[in-house]
Amino acid sequence: MGAGHVGGPTMAVIALKCKSIKINVVDIDPSKINAWNSENLDDLPVFEPDLKNIIAKVRNRNLFFSQNIDSAIREADMIFISVNTPIKTKGEGAGFASDLKWVESSARKIGIEAKGHTIVVEKSTLPVRTAKTIKTILENSVKESKINNITKSFSVLSNPEFLSEGNAINDLLNPDRVLIGGDNDMAINCLEQIYLEWVSKHKIIKTNLWSSELSKLSANALLAQRVSSINSISEICEATGADIKEVSLAIGSDKRIGHKFLDAGPGFGGSCFKKDILNLVYLCRYYGMDSVANYWEQVIKMNEWQQKRILKIILDKLFGTVAGKNIAILGFAFKANTNDTRESPAINLTNKLLEEGAIVSIHDPKVEKKKIVEDLKNYSEKNLDNSKNRDSTWSFTRDVFEAIENCDAIIILTEWPEYANLNWHDCVALMRSPKTIFDTRSILNEKQLKDLDVNYWRIGYGLSEKI
Ligand code: UDX
Repeated sequence: MGAGHVGGPTMAVIALKCKSIKINVVDIDPSKINAWNSENLDDLPVFEPDLKNIIAKVRNRNLFFSQNIDSAIREADMIFISVNTPIKTKGEGAGFASDLKWVESSARKIGIEAKGHTIVVEKSTLPVRTAKTIKTILENSVKESKINNITKSFSVLSNPEFLSEGNAINDLLNPDRVLIGGDNDMAINCLEQIYLEWVSKHKIIKTNLWSSELSKLSANALLAQRVSSINSISEICEATGADIKEVSLAIGSDKRIGHKFLDAGPGFGGSCFKKDILNLVYLCRYYGMDSVANYWEQVIKMNEWQQKRILKIILDKLFGTVAGKNIAILGFAFKANTNDTRESPAINLTNKLLEEGAIVSIHDPKVEKKKIVEDLKNYSEKNLDNSKNRDSTWSFTRDVFEAIENCDAIIILTEWPEYANLNWHDCVALMRSPKTIFDTRSILNEKQLKDLDVNYWRIGYGLSEKI
């Protein structure tokens, strides 16, 4: 249940590896299902390298996308709940707790429609002890079915995903570990058998339900904490003359620390990090652990600070104002290799630049324009016949040179490899003097920019003195 970033790719890989299993992926959103069924595989609703090749092999063989939720539940021996769990915007826990209405309504539907014994697997990232809610809903439906002389029973498992967007298929095919939480050995073994088709046994970790749920939140919290830690060091680098690239290399060379997740940037985005930490904070406050809650909350505050300070630096270096200035934003996705913009630092930064009166031209190789329209809903896109200096608004282009043309500043926000590979001599020539590049991912080769007529600022180093 749920044909999103998790449900679609995960079920595609299970279908690929387990030909004898029939998988129905259902969703209440018809446009999503239509997109998964679209003939042109470039129109799938999720972009992941290799996903379309897998879909081409398994769709309508043993993987089916439909809106037939009830019949899919009745047919199922095992049901994965992969619906979305956004942060609540109102009510108790607003701004922190996950909104579980989709999980709950899925559980209720399962409770009504399921037949015989059904294993229900939590796949969405959920607050700790959500399995209890699901169990309670299902147990109630068992009681009601007994009154009507129908026999049904359920086991609930937690099997969190650790998919990193842009690398989801590889993460599914070669996972570091598969976590299965539960208290029913038969159900655990059934799920394990599926993974054993391609994952070695030693990578399958079995825990109780709560450990599994908490491990998922904690893994993401620790990863996010690393990003906030290195971002905090990037500010110190800029003040002291140290270079974050050198510092990251030196730190990461310690085998106990390792090199991954030590790249300073404009702050973490994506659908999980912030949400999972907020859930952890909510959980801690619920149990009265204020010191622990404050500790994890600081990871998010640091992330917000990184975005604020980058905006401040941009304003400072552009003589205190961006009003009427042409700014090119390179990269709108929250990281490279994805078309996803959820929690992308680009949204905040672009909104702030627009608020300050800048004229913003956005480029991204994968993000759809309609997504950016939603993200910047307070500002309408520039009409094509508007001259660039007329009013403060934004435009989108797939042509990087068009984005850069006549701009006063370029801000690199996503580490798309193609930005590092651009001919920067030509790019700088298209800009308007005085020219400044803000490289918030530290991806450009400084040597190539050395003799060009441009100020180059990069995260964790500052303004390059050589230029
Ligand atoms: C994350 C987790 O990695 C995954 O296991 C989980 O299940 C879902 O959340 P994802 O959101 O796809 O995956 O992105 P990830 O690659 O973890 O990056 C998150 C953010 O941190 C991105 O904005 C990225 O640009 C940023 N980041 C990451 C850095 O700024 N520096 C780094 O060194 C690494």
